[in-house]
Amino acid sequence: MRVVGVTGATGFIGSSLLAAFLERGWGAVAFGRRALPDGAARGITARPYVLGDDAPDLTGLDLLVHCAYDPQADNVAAAAALVRRARAEGVPRVLFVSSLSAQTDAGSAYGREKAACERSFDAARDLIVRPGLVIGNGGLFARMRDSLRRMPLAPVVDGGRQPVYGIGIDDLAGAIVELVEAGACGSYVLASPEPLALRELLRAIARGVGRGIVLVPVPYALLLACAAIVERLRLPLDLGVERVRSLRNLRAFSVPSYPEIARPFASLPSVLAALA
Ligand SMILES: NC(=O)c1ccc[n+]([C@@H]2O[C@H](COP(=O)([O-])OP(=O)(O)OC[C@H]3O[C@@H](n4cnc5c(N)ncnc54)[C@H](OP(=O)(O)O)[C@@H]3O)[C@@H](O)[C@H]2O)c1
Repeated sequence: MRVVGVTGATGFIGSSLLAAFLERGWGAVAFGRRALPDGAARGITARPYVLGDDAPDLTGLDLLVHCAYDPQADNVAAAAALVRRARAEGVPRVLFVSSLSAQTDAGSAYGREKAACERSFDAARDLIVRPGLVIGNGGLFARMRDSLRRMPLAPVVDGGRQPVYGIGIDDLAGAIVELVEAGACGSYVLASPEPLALRELLRAIARGVGRGIVLVPVPYALLLACAAIVERLRLPLDLGVERVRSLRNLRAFSVPSYPEIARPFASLPSVLAALA
């Protein structure tokens, strides 16, 4: 691999991928609406990219990693435009950071949108990774942690028994490097095989920030109605309709293992303990 371009390079996952690629000695181009503060010093080339605008200049890339996501934008059209441009400019393949929740019948609009984005990619040449909840100092996990730090109280549906599949950020970056080096294409679920029940995850996160947690049992319909009110009144609470609907995406399944990925993923309790 010579040159990898990353959209969303300023984000939690994109910045970790960029660091992993640089460690392998690969050239890196960061596509984004703001520059990485230390990008030039680390030898990273910056090219402007605003998701939703025209696809950026992709010349000279051996791989484009599409990691940016904007809940306010048309992510499906943006992914399609990037793929078209990559093909036109001879980029050999594109890696899309999708999600474990990517299903055409997902409970959340996010999951359905990710599934729709995936359709722009060609399984015979591109690589689609579907991570579970990524555990580290950023992204959704950090937002959950900050919220529990502020207010150690969480409404739970069905006692919070829903299985959450996740992966540590270092395991995710390592697995993606292995897949790229192996020339893998098609779809890969990236998650530790043993899930944690949502209530156990919430308890572990609260323990990690030195708080106890109160889990409040709530029926799904009531929680959804409360989330709608919180959104409508713009109350400063970490509760949204999408987040509640995403509970419907949490179901048990068997996480496949892949011959291209040699390192076993750390268990979620050990990843959480290492972060605390
Ligand atoms: N975190 C998880 O647990 C998780 C799990 C599964 C899948 N994923 C997927 O992984 C990807 C990255 O997630 P993350 O957790 O790293 O999120 P993040 O930290 O919020 O990063 C999002 C990135 O997208 C960029 N971005 C947002 N809107 C943009 C726009 N309009 N134009 C250009 N760039 C824009 C952001 O740039 P700015 O710095 O300019 O805002 C940032 O670099 C997403 O596709 C997400 O769906 C995440």
